[in-house]
Amino acid sequence: MSEVIIRKYQKADQPGVENVCYRTGYMGEGLDGRNLFNDKRLFTLLFNLYYAHFEPEHYFVAVDPKTDQAIGYICGTTDTEAQEKRLTRKIVPRILLRATFYTSWRHPESFRILRAMAKSAGQFTGSALAEIKQTYPAHLHIDILPEYQRIGLGTRLMDTFEDHLRAHGVKGVHLGTSNQNYKALPFYEKRGFQLVYEMPAQLWPEVSGLKTLFFAKCL
Ligand SMILES: CC(C)(COP(=O)(O)OP(=O)(O)OC[C@H]1O[C@@H](n2cnc3c(N)ncnc32)[C@H](O)[C@@H]1OP(=O)(O)O)[C@@H](O)C(=O)NCCC(=O)NCCS
Repeated sequence: MSEVIIRKYQKADQPGVENVCYRTGYMGEGLDGRNLFNDKRLFTLLFNLYYAHFEPEHYFVAVDPKTDQAIGYICGTTDTEAQEKRLTRKIVPRILLRATFYTSWRHPESFRILRAMAKSAGQFTGSALAEIKQTYPAHLHIDILPEYQRIGLGTRLMDTFEDHLRAHGVKGVHLGTSNQNYKALPFYEKRGFQLVYEMPAQLWPEVSGLKTLFFAKCL
C-alpha cells in the first residue's frame, strides 16, 4: 500500500469523510446494512459535518494517493465550551429541519434514535463534564476505514493532532467513546489517555449495558 498522505481538510473531501464516519459509526464498526440509522446525511450532520464546515482549521484527513479519497480523519476543537455554543447555533437548526421534514417520514428508525438521544441529552450536563471541559478544553474524533486500520495510521493522525493542539497552546484534550468499542479502547490506552468519566450511552438504546466513556490526556 502506498504511503497515505495526511493533510488539512478540503471541501472536496466531504463525501469521503461522510463515508468514513458512516462506515465506522457503530461502536467502531460500519452502519451499512444494519437498518439502524439509514439517514446517512443526518448521521454525519450529528457527528462530523460541524467540524468540516465550521472548524476546518482543526480537521486533518488521511488520503490514499492512489484514489485521492479520504480514508480516515481526525477532527475536533481547541475549545469545547465555545464549540458547543457554535454547534447549537449552526448545526442544531439544520438537524431539526432535516429530521422534521425528511427523516421523520423517510427514515423513521433514524428519527426514533434521534428522539431518544434528544430526550436523554439534558440529563448529563453535570459538574463532572464541566470540569473535564475546563481541565481538557480540546476534544477530538478519529475514524479510519477498516481496510486501512492497524497499519499505524491512527498513530500518525493522533501525533499530527496532538502537535497541532500543542502549537495552539492547548493544555489538555478529551474524547468520548463506547465501552464496547474494542478497537478504540486499546488504542487510546496506548496513546496515554486515562478514563475520567462514564455515563449511560445516549446512542444505540437497543444495546444493553452500553456506556459512554470519557478519556482525557494532558498535552
Ligand atoms: C481506533 C482506530 C482509530 C485505531 O487506528 P489504527 O490506525 O488502527 O491504530 P494503529 O495502527 O496506529 O495502532 C496503534 C496501537 O493501538 C492499539 N490498537 C489499535 N487498534 C487495535 C485493535 N483493533 N485491537 C487492539 N489494539 C489496537 C495497538 O496497541 C496498536 O499498536 P500495535 O499495532 O503496535 O499493536 C481505528 O481502529 C479506527 O478508526 N476504528 C474505527 C473507528 C473508531 O472506533 N474510532 C474511535 C471512535 S471513539
